[in-house]
Amino acid sequence: MSGKKRLFIETLGCAMNVRDTEHIIAELEGDYEVTKEIKEADLILINTCSVRERPVHKLFSEVGAYEKIKKQGAKIGVCGCTASHLGSDVFKRAPYVDFVLGARNISKIKTAVKTPKFVSVDINHDESEYAFGDFRSSPYKSFVNIMIGCDKKCTYCIVPQTRGDEISIPSNIILNEVAKAASNGAKEIFLLGQNVNNYGKRFSGNHDKIDFSDLLNLISKVDGVERIRFTSPHPLHMDDKFLQEFSSNPKICKSMHMPLQSGSTSILKAMKRGYTKEWFLDRAAKLRELCPSVSISTDIIVAFPGESDEDFADTMDVLEKVRFEQLFSFKYSARPLTPAATMTNQISDEVASKRLATLQARHTVILDEIVESMRDMVFEVYFEELRAGGYVVGRTSNNFLVQVKGSEELLGKLANVKITDPKRMVLYGQII
Ligand code: 5AD
Ligand code: SF4
Repeated sequence: MSGKKRLFIETLGCAMNVRDTEHIIAELEGDYEVTKEIKEADLILINTCSVRERPVHKLFSEVGAYEKIKKQGAKIGVCGCTASHLGSDVFKRAPYVDFVLGARNISKIKTAVKTPKFVSVDINHDESEYAFGDFRSSPYKSFVNIMIGCDKKCTYCIVPQTRGDEISIPSNIILNEVAKAASNGAKEIFLLGQNVNNYGKRFSGNHDKIDFSDLLNLISKVDGVERIRFTSPHPLHMDDKFLQEFSSNPKICKSMHMPLQSGSTSILKAMKRGYTKEWFLDRAAKLRELCPSVSISTDIIVAFPGESDEDFADTMDVLEKVRFEQLFSFKYSARPLTPAATMTNQISDEVASKRLATLQARHTVILDEIVESMRDMVFEVYFEELRAGGYVVGRTSNNFLVQVKGSEELLGKLANVKITDPKRMVLYGQII
């Protein structure tokens, strides 16, 4: 026994939250060790997401369940994006919660744990140069934040209200973190930010102004770095320089997230996305031309207020033309404090469900064709995780999940795999 108290932490939402959770664990490491058993925890944290309504509901049902089963005297803290937007209102709905700590206030976690009914949800709090303790949940892959906040004002999105304005993290801090992660054995570096290819627009201090393409290039030269991934880039900032660096730098994984949101130029305008259908198609075509092995993933929202059948047909048309390898699709969800929530032309849930089903069904057919075309092909796979029954999984450069027979020795290694049985969710193969 270490004599430390026990921390249970649940993470909802995106990769930024996964990294915030690592930072929380690192900050508390002197006093707490992580447990997977809620019943033995002295501190229960839930790191929340507020991007759609459903995860917010999930928060209150989960903290309610935690309250019932927690051990006596255990504290419950609500962190992350929903903490940011609800603030002390969390106590009104769940009075047994001990503290509320917003995204972008994570560095205050030690004070929060010690202070009854502590609330800190300041979205202007600047953690861009805060030296968090070091904790990594995977030895093989390291998340590295390159910016905080978001300067875009997409009319459906709550994130600017939960994570505040965009500030880039100085490149020397990023490079030091990358070098440290790589020297600890992480061959893959995963860069995180709300708009990564807008990197370098604003720093909080006086720092060298480099852009995202230059940052990628510097990171690719760090000893031990074999693979670089990043999320999320914005289609608007996909200039030729960025697409060139992406395509020509062999360390950069050939998987690009291009969040379309809608294929209709008029809906994109109402969303304030800053690009047109034609711009998006042009960037995707250019990317496929420069980098034939690329896989393109996307996010699509159906039934944004005012979306007509023709607008939705434009979204289907982009799907046909780009043939995304991966699709994350959502029904529009009205979020508090966003301009779209008060638009008068909201779409019925019935129409939204139909459009979502149409989109997903067509994408499934496309994906089946794509994975079938990968049969018998050979890919380099970076193995990261054991699976039950003597299997190991890893990812190709273009982000397909691959499973082979194998054991621990493969973890953290790159190997060539021939795909023998491609399925939608995972490609089965053999090491050659
Ligand atoms: N409703 C539905 N989906 C949303 N997203 C963001 N805000 C909303 C909303 N209000 C989706 C976008 C974004 C992804 C992370 O979540 O597609 O890219
Ligand atoms: Fe991530 Fe957005 Fe959810 Fe916050 S609201 S956790 S930034 S997806």
